[in-house]
Amino acid sequence: PARAHTPPMTNVFVLTGAGVSAESGIRTFRDANGLWEGHDVMAVATPEGFAADPALVHRFYDARRAELDRVRPNAAHEALARLQRELDGRVAIVTQNVDDLHERAGAEVLHMHGELRRARCTARGHVHRWSGPLAAAVCPDCGASMRPDIVWFGEMPMHLDRIETALAGADLFAAIGTSGEVYPAAGYAEAARAAGIPTVEINLEPTGGARFDEVRAGPATREVPAWVDALLSGARPGERAR
Ligand code: APR
Repeated sequence: PARAHTPPMTNVFVLTGAGVSAESGIRTFRDANGLWEGHDVMAVATPEGFAADPALVHRFYDARRAELDRVRPNAAHEALARLQRELDGRVAIVTQNVDDLHERAGAEVLHMHGELRRARCTARGHVHRWSGPLAAAVCPDCGASMRPDIVWFGEMPMHLDRIETALAGADLFAAIGTSGEVYPAAGYAEAARAAGIPTVEINLEPTGGARFDEVRAGPATREVPAWVDALLSGARPGERAR
């Protein structure tokens, strides 16, 4: 089909959270009310928890990594990958999620909280793609024990410099499926607003945070494709497609 008319100068910054993967069957943090598979998050998602009981933490993440083989990208992941293809090189997708569903839908994405499909050695930080269990693994490079390459509470998120650069160059900011409760991601909508960038929130229930210019309430598999269609049809941010 002819290339859809797109706004000439739009550089889009998309921040996604657990809500974009919810309809693929991956539970959101909030729905689990702070418990993941029955575990207190602080016991399985902190360096202290890992030091105290590495076997428990490995069991927890091995289960979440195995779950990835049973879920698939949904229409929201696919629509964001389409947006990235159509606005070639002008769409930055930053996710707080550690699943691989954006990539499996064909998108390039920055994982600010790390990835389930990566493991890191505890001695020298060697990072390796990983698919199976990690509990008894040793680093292929140096033989040390391994940990999930996931950013735990209290640790520094990844790619912050690249994220800030993308945000600084954006003309449009969209927060999709995130409760906006965990910083620094939660501060990005406010930063966009302070920079005078139009902001969109797509969420099952509006979070009421950061005073978005446009709110699309509903399931991501319905609202994200509709938003992408509107954007690619040249609708100004905030307008609905005709
Ligand atoms: N469609 C759209 N939004 C949805 C859907 C859906 N089908 N289902 C749930 N949501 C929304 C919820 O309304 C909520 O606002 O997704 C959001 C999920 O919020 P959280 O569970 O807090 O997930 P997230 O915002 O990604 O959490 C951020 O906190 O749990 C830590 O490090 C973890 O990356 C995570 C970070």
